[in-house]
Amino acid sequence: MTGNILTSQRLRLVPFTERHLTQRYVDWLNDRRLMRYSEQRHRHHSMESCLAYYQSFDKTPHQFWAIECPSCDPCHVGNMSVHRDLNNGLADVSILLGEKSLHGQGYGLEAWSLICDHLLNTVGVRKITAGTMACNLSMLRIMERSGMVQDGERMAHYLVDGKPTSILYRALFAPS
Ligand SMILES: CC(C)(COP(=O)(O)OP(=O)(O)OC[C@H]1O[C@@H](n2cnc3c(N)ncnc32)[C@H](O)[C@@H]1OP(=O)(O)O)[C@@H](O)C(=O)NCCC(=O)NCCS
Repeated sequence: MTGNILTSQRLRLVPFTERHLTQRYVDWLNDRRLMRYSEQRHRHHSMESCLAYYQSFDKTPHQFWAIECPSCDPCHVGNMSVHRDLNNGLADVSILLGEKSLHGQGYGLEAWSLICDHLLNTVGVRKITAGTMACNLSMLRIMERSGMVQDGERMAHYLVDGKPTSILYRALFAPS
């Protein structure tokens, strides 16, 4: 993990550190409504499990970023993780904008665009991938608005409120 800080108009992405390990962050993960379209909804999270997740990035090519909003209090408002496949030039990205009061104001798209731009144009990733449940409309819109294209689908893969739900994959390629 590099010491990079990525900045956009309202946000910055900083490498996740122990100062981001707060009860507020643990509470995001245990919020059933917030996590309703994530497989994390099946687990109970604690400081210990979050510390273990953070430490799992040590000595790997993967990256764990904190989303900070300098004008917000507290400024840590979400996280992004990037899982790299160096052999194939791939990066799989996921996002959690934990502060629900910020939803629907373009912050998710702003953070997503920032990491995609960094991965393609600075890190030299060839293909960014991401997946989301078909019912996660805001995530699908973020993928669409950031220029991602269809990259497959697993039909009726997850159960959301007992209802079979597909997972949709999207991809963004580096310009050739
Ligand atoms: C998914 C998530 C990142 C979206 O963040 P956000 O900041 O609310 O998203 P934005 O405000 O950037 O909105 C993105 C687009 O979705 C649209 N949108 C938001 N809510 C919507 C809804 N319920 N239905 C349809 N579109 C919606 C917005 O209008 C916007 O589109 P536009 O730019 O064309 O207007 C956030 O809700 C989140 O972290 N959720 C929990 C974790 C999660 O589901 N992560 C993704 C798992 S893969």
